[in-house]
Amino acid sequence: SPEELDAMITAAKRTLGERAVVMGHFYQRDEVVKHADFIGDSFQLAQQAKAHPEAEAIVFCGVHFMAETADILSRGGQSVILPNPAAGCSMADMADADSVEECWADLMDVFGPHATDAHGRTIMGEDGEPLASVIPVTYMNSSAALKAFCGRNGGIVCTSSNARTVLDWAFGRGQRVLFFPDQHLGRNTAKAMGVPLEHMPLWDPRRELGGNTAQVLQDSRVILWHGFCSVHKRFTVGQIEKARAEYPGCTVIVHPESPMEVVDAADSSGSTDHIRKAVEAAEPGQTFAIGTEINMVNRLAAEHPEHTIFCLDPVICPCSTMYRIHPGYLAWVLEELVAGRVVNQVSVAEDVAREASVALERMLAAVP
Ligand code: 13P
Ligand code: SF4
Repeated sequence: SPEELDAMITAAKRTLGERAVVMGHFYQRDEVVKHADFIGDSFQLAQQAKAHPEAEAIVFCGVHFMAETADILSRGGQSVILPNPAAGCSMADMADADSVEECWADLMDVFGPHATDAHGRTIMGEDGEPLASVIPVTYMNSSAALKAFCGRNGGIVCTSSNARTVLDWAFGRGQRVLFFPDQHLGRNTAKAMGVPLEHMPLWDPRRELGGNTAQVLQDSRVILWHGFCSVHKRFTVGQIEKARAEYPGCTVIVHPESPMEVVDAADSSGSTDHIRKAVEAAEPGQTFAIGTEINMVNRLAAEHPEHTIFCLDPVICPCSTMYRIHPGYLAWVLEELVAGRVVNQVSVAEDVAREASVALERMLAAVP
């Protein structure tokens, strides 16, 4: 029963003490979140992964790319455990390493490694070194292999809370950016920085069919991969109009994985932690229409009865893979740890981890 699982998790955690740290993303269900030692957005959880050298194990209640990141950043002999190994992210799966390598090879054919002006002369950066023609930027929601790709090609990782800072970093080093996997975060961030839409082509792997002509590529500032989040693409401008009609004066906040028109029609957009902070900072009696995953929205509503809080999407919109972390799996992996066994470990190969950590550390260094 839920009560028995709850008691099992509590007992196992008590026995383990500091030997295990449980981390939880905001999208996890309440029955899991209540046992988390740390809850946060994906950037905060990446920072936390480095902060617990005393623990033998990090039990990561989130999705696979987050657990991989924790493993890469916590290279101190700790085991990172994903209670259910089937908890992936469909967006992360939309950029596989082979396709990105092919795209990169195509781009290097077109541009060469260094930025050039209209006369073909190499453009120098402020540090006196040639600017790169393209800087690869991967959203945290990607495999360790893609983070490694960025690490060895002068690139960097970003999350939804620091995408703008990271793009600034990239534009300081290169003429343009290849942004993957989430086209929406890339487009929304670059648009907010003033990059015109016509300079943000979607990468078209069949270039000969007419999408990315050489001129389109030459004029590009941000080349967008075609990935998206199946949860956030459900939000629409119509839902926002309906919320504003039914609740005049309501505040609409959406996650930047939402489509551009939705972000434009909202009052603000930002990471899961941005959404949480906006609600917490508001005077009592506000109404919030929120465009993000339902477990988080329902929890905010329960924790803030002084406000009216609802999800923009009237049809339930859970992240089905986050939801795969059932308390039963959490109880099991913790009890195995008590018995001295590590199960469902996420372990990134040493060479991949080394290159991926370069791109992750660049992000951690770039973000104030
Ligand atoms: P945050 O970094 O905002 O927590 O987002 C992670 C995510 O997967 C959103 O869909
Ligand atoms: Fe991936 Fe979307 Fe789920 Fe976030 S909400 S983990 S992007 S599928």
